Amino acid sequence: ENKIKVALLGLGTVGTGVYKLIHRRGDVMERTIGAELEIFRILVHSLKKERPGIDASLLTDNWQEILADDEIQIVIEVMGGIEPARTMILDALHAGKHVVTANKDLVAEYGKELLDAAEAGKCDFLFEAAVAGGIPIIRPLKQCLAGNEISEVIGIVNGTTNYILTKMFEDNMSFEEALAKATELGYAEADPTADVEGLDAGRKVAIMASIAFHSRVVFKDVYTEGITKITSKDIAYAKEFDSVIKLLGVAHNTENGIEVGVYPMLLNKDHPLASVRDSFNAVFVHGDAVDDAMFYGRGAGELPTASAVMGDIIDVARDIQYHCNGRISCTCYKELPIKDFDD
Ligand code: NDP
Ligand code: HSE
Repeated sequence: ENKIKVALLGLGTVGTGVYKLIHRRGDVMERTIGAELEIFRILVHSLKKERPGIDASLLTDNWQEILADDEIQIVIEVMGGIEPARTMILDALHAGKHVVTANKDLVAEYGKELLDAAEAGKCDFLFEAAVAGGIPIIRPLKQCLAGNEISEVIGIVNGTTNYILTKMFEDNMSFEEALAKATELGYAEADPTADVEGLDAGRKVAIMASIAFHSRVVFKDVYTEGITKITSKDIAYAKEFDSVIKLLGVAHNTENGIEVGVYPMLLNKDHPLASVRDSFNAVFVHGDAVDDAMFYGRGAGELPTASAVMGDIIDVARDIQYHCNGRISCTCYKELPIKDFDD
């Protein structure tokens, strides 16, 4: 029997979505990769939590047991945070296991170290879900648009803040109420400060800029400003001018260097980004050959994010089946100067 065994690290919002999709799409997996994906182990923090619908015999809190199991070929990290996620991913790659992650904090800060480890071990390290949830944007930047000189990547890349701003504008909801609802819906980070202060969007901008501009941009290079200072007066003012407020992530590759930032902006209702509501995200890319391209979809939540993780898992499984190890990992880049962000 042809089986590819995977370990899921984390069974929260995203992990649960991945668990569901792996079971739901079993037939497609067999048809497209000619093998069955089997969730062999699930690493969680607490073994005492109630987890309805989950096969409890798969749960463990012992990472070393997963690492030592040579049958496990793919590790799916959906726990979040820097440690122990970073060490676990490095351990997995050193042990020759392929890794898929949704962890933008980690990729924005330690992406190079992780990609180097993947390349050294001839493993895949994929992170499509780390930027803009369900929207495929990493692969288009890396592959489909590779024939372009990309000069600009702009977008709404945080679902929580877009949801909050939409609710404040359309339903007169308070900031606190809208944030509580976004948390309940599984959009917000474990610490939602990362969302509302623009840090999460900043990490995503760093990742997109690194890939789009073939350079190395880390989170500390990104100017960040969140939405916590936006008041009901600002909302009323925006409405008076037929406009909305959106939290934008912006990356420009200029003659003088790369400029990266996240900040709230007043957009006229006719602007294409003004109609991006709820937890939806949108990313504009300008390339010298393609001209303008726009990507739109759900930027957060259980199944939209799991959709992006699944795409990566299927890609890795194909690599395993057709023996093209390390096809997607690539650490080639050229250091470009980073400009101070001009307000
Ligand atoms: P949750 O907080 O919902 O889930 C985290 C899971 O990881 C839980 O199951 C938790 O275990 C487990 N976990 C945490 N720390 C440890 C540890 N030290 N050892 C073992 N297990 C651990 O997070 P999300 O699912 O929302 O997010 C996961 C990742 O995906 C993050 O990197 C996030 O940024 C990213 N992401 C999230 C999106 C979303 O919409 N939520 C969208 C895109 C990316 P237990 O259940 O026992 O507490
Ligand atoms: N907290 C993030 C957001 C999750 O709201 O966009 C998706 O990366």
